[in-house]
Parts: sequence; C-alpha cells; structure tokens
Amino acid sequence: MKLAPSLLAADFGALREEARSVEAHADLFHWDVMDGHFVPNLTFGPPVVNALKGTLERPFGIHLMVDRPATYAPQFSVDPGDTIVFHIEADDPPARVIDAIRETGASVGISLRPGTPLDRIVPYLDEVRLVLVMSVEPGFGGQAFLPEAVDRIARLRAIIARRSISIAVDGGIGPANIAQVVRAGADVVIAGSSIFGAPDRIAAIRALREALR
Ligand code: DX5
Ligand code: ZN
Repeated sequence: MKLAPSLLAADFGALREEARSVEAHADLFHWDVMDGHFVPNLTFGPPVVNALKGTLERPFGIHLMVDRPATYAPQFSVDPGDTIVFHIEADDPPARVIDAIRETGASVGISLRPGTPLDRIVPYLDEVRLVLVMSVEPGFGGQAFLPEAVDRIARLRAIIARRSISIAVDGGIGPANIAQVVRAGADVVIAGSSIFGAPDRIAAIRALREALR
C-alpha cells in the first residue's frame, strides 16, 4: 500500500514546508488541481505544481479535476515516476487526454465520480496504469467517506483482473476505513484531512499504517 498525503488539506501559504513535513513518511504527494468548472472549487494549476516539483523528492500524483484536461496536462513538468489522473466525465475525448498525458512522460491515471458507472472506464483499462476511485464527490476535502466505494473497489479489482493497474482511493480516508479499502483492492491510499488536520501528522500517518496490521 502506498500512502499519498493530499496537500489540499495543508496550509496553502506554505505548501513546500507542508509537503516536507511529511515527506519522509509518505510514498508520493497528491495534488488536487481544480478549475472552478468541473468542480465548484478552485485550487492551483501547473505553475504552482511545477514550482514545487523541483524541490520535493517523492513522486507526484496530479489529480486533474478540470475540464479540457488535454489542454492542461502538457503544462505539467513531470517525470516517468509521476502520474497524471484525469476524470472520465471531463469534456475532452478520453483518447486525446490519454495521448496528452503520455506525451508528458508521466503515467496515465483515470478517475470517476462516485455516481459514474464503472463501465465508463472499462474501454480505457489497457491504456492506464492507475484508476482513482472517488470515495467522496470531488471538489472539497474533509467530506465523509461514501461506504459504497468499498464494493466499487472490489468490483474494479475483479474487472482489472491480470492487468497491472493500481487502484487509488480518494476522499474521507482515515484509520477507521483504510483497512476496508485496502482489503477490497486499493493499493494507493490518498488522505488529506486525516493527516494535515491532525495535531501530529507523523502520528496520523503511523495510525493509518497501523490500522492495516
Ligand atoms: C477531493 C480531493 C481529495 C481530497 C481528499 O476532491 O480529490 O484528494 O484532498 O481529502 P480528504 O482526505 O480530506 O477527504
Ligand atoms: Zn484528489
């Protein structure tokens, strides 16, 4: 299981320091890029993510909650160890987005809202390395975990079968539900408020890992 702290819950005035404060205990960093159109919230875009990229060692998972992902993906300076995730519900043809992400050198990830049928992403499974299952409605941190995500992860694991594809889960994850999602088949766990909202982040990360024993 890889643990990805989501900086959405961190202090935006000190993103680099916030990321560094957990870097030794994190496997990768999760960056929530929101455009105020695809989701009703605005965060940061390529200039901010790129500025942070050069100063941090862990790989980046860039979660594009934006329309026109094929336009924005090429603006990220990424490495082969990084992943750019787009939403199947975004307005560009998925095949174009996949090509645009591939050209950056990053791995391709695909995501879907809690209400979108899994069938929508099946045609693209041979083109992606990661599927990000939303366990909250995308747009905001700190929302309650939607328990139906557990069954969805298990169904997705069965559909993926022998392909080498990671399943990430994103939204409302904490020590009380991490074991369920990992048991169901998630191998990348994204957590924002349960880490950055805790008085001691390192203890919070330990609690997440320990909940898996
Ligand atoms: C929500 C974002 C999540 C968010 C999760 O749209 O995609 O990555 O940061 O935050 P928590 O862990 O607080 O639900
Ligand atoms: Zn996210």
